[in-house]
Amino acid sequence: MGKGLFISIEGPDGSGKSTQIENIKRFFAEKNMEIVFTREPGGTAIGEKIRELILDRTYTEMDSMTETLLYAAARAQHVAQVIRPAIEAGKIVICDRFVDSSIAYQGYGRKLGSSVEEINKFAVDGCMPDVTFLMKLDPRVGRGRIDEKVQDRLEMEKDAFHLAVFEGYLELEKQYPDRILGIDASRTIDQIKLDIYEKLEALLKDGADEA
Ligand code: ADP
Ligand code: TYD
Repeated sequence: MGKGLFISIEGPDGSGKSTQIENIKRFFAEKNMEIVFTREPGGTAIGEKIRELILDRTYTEMDSMTETLLYAAARAQHVAQVIRPAIEAGKIVICDRFVDSSIAYQGYGRKLGSSVEEINKFAVDGCMPDVTFLMKLDPRVGRGRIDEKVQDRLEMEKDAFHLAVFEGYLELEKQYPDRILGIDASRTIDQIKLDIYEKLEALLKDGADEA
């Protein structure tokens, strides 16, 4: 689709996504390449409102399908208002989480299965990442890095939920090997950064060769 580039970053909570996103921003800044950075759930005024609703720790009664539809609603607005226009304008879009999060967390974690993929087909309407970096880290290690007091409603879930989410990510990596690039996130921040930089260089080179 489009002429731009769409990159998403995925992985369990605390797997180092935010840390490496800062490195990815630096990678493009050093090349004087402009990027559009955005995140899910959120990325638009409507999406940020939905984010507050979904992550509120007090809404323990939220039904799993309600949760799925809210993530998908935020995503539909995000694609329509931010992601698709940017890609069509030839920009590089970097997104912290996207559809794979819903498939892993709601499809596998909440056990809603393939309905999550179906619902999200409507939400994204064909707008899928060109490349996805998957930060692969045992979710128990990732969660150990997050302060329990600041955990949101999803992060508060038990280990079994987070292990099922991780299983979902590994399944997605197997299912979409051309799009999803697994990153061993158990290494040091600098080792991971070098790995991602190499992959980004290759990606830009491929794009240049195709042009
Ligand atoms: P996420 O955005 O995936 O939740 P963060 O980037 O916020 O993860 O990282 C969670 C915590 O782990 C932060 O305190 C961060 O400094 C730390 N961290 C990030 N990457 C690593 C790493 N490779 N090794 C050890 N600690 C890390
Ligand atoms: P995020 O703010 O990215 O959390 P973190 O920085 O700790 O990784 O995402 C908030 C939570 O929402 C996170 O636990 C993952 C979850 N989530 C879903 O369950 N489904 C989704 O579709 C998305 C985008 C996120």
